Amino acid sequence: MGKVTGKLGNDFCPQALFLYGNYQEDGRPHFGLFCWATYCHIRDGEEEGLGFMTCIGEEKLTKDLIRSQGMFSANLVTEKLLPLADYYGTTSGRETPNKMDRLPAVEPGQVLRVPTIAESPVSFELKVIEELHLTAGSDLFLCRICNVTVEEALQNTALPFPRRLLQAAPVIVPGESRYAALTGEDLGAWGEPRSALQ
Ligand SMILES: Cc1cc2nc3c(=O)[nH]c(=O)nc-3n(C[C@H](O)[C@H](O)[C@H](O)COP(=O)(O)O)c2cc1C
Repeated sequence: MGKVTGKLGNDFCPQALFLYGNYQEDGRPHFGLFCWATYCHIRDGEEEGLGFMTCIGEEKLTKDLIRSQGMFSANLVTEKLLPLADYYGTTSGRETPNKMDRLPAVEPGQVLRVPTIAESPVSFELKVIEELHLTAGSDLFLCRICNVTVEEALQNTALPFPRRLLQAAPVIVPGESRYAALTGEDLGAWGEPRSALQ
């Protein structure tokens, strides 16, 4: 079978999911769910290094907080974190003042003043280097990765990397607004896993 013209989109091109974290004005942590993110090489003053770039759509609390503080954390979403992550991704912080009544265990960043999620196996601490306005309601944030914390068990190189990857159990968004496990298991449509929350 050959190829046919598809709808413009990124189906079959899986992306990882992250919870972006900031402190709100009252000092409480805030999290939002994001997948339009990848890596780049950046220069920050004299220093060059690994960067993180993310596209944030329409105006939202996460964007307000990233702009006002110039930093945020990005916490890899796992299968266990998915119900909470789905809730954070389908609840507007601007319109839901009590959104953060549900909180995971939070640890302060080691290098930046950002909240990180204890249960997430990989947390980046990110400093915004530049914001590029792309089009109405679409902005690209170029960041420097200032620190990364990784679950200790994942550093055990005696286990082959693919096994440790499955152990981390990141959730991917492969297309058609659905969540999936790396094993290929379907984890539901966006907006569904949150119903497992008490
Ligand atoms: C699976 C999934 C992925 C998402 N990825 C993005 C993204 O990459 N960029 C974006 O601007 N919003 C994304 N969103 C929407 C935000 O999570 C949503 O706007 C949420 O309300 C943000 O939290 P806040 O309103 O408290 O800032 C995604 C939502 C879901 C369910």
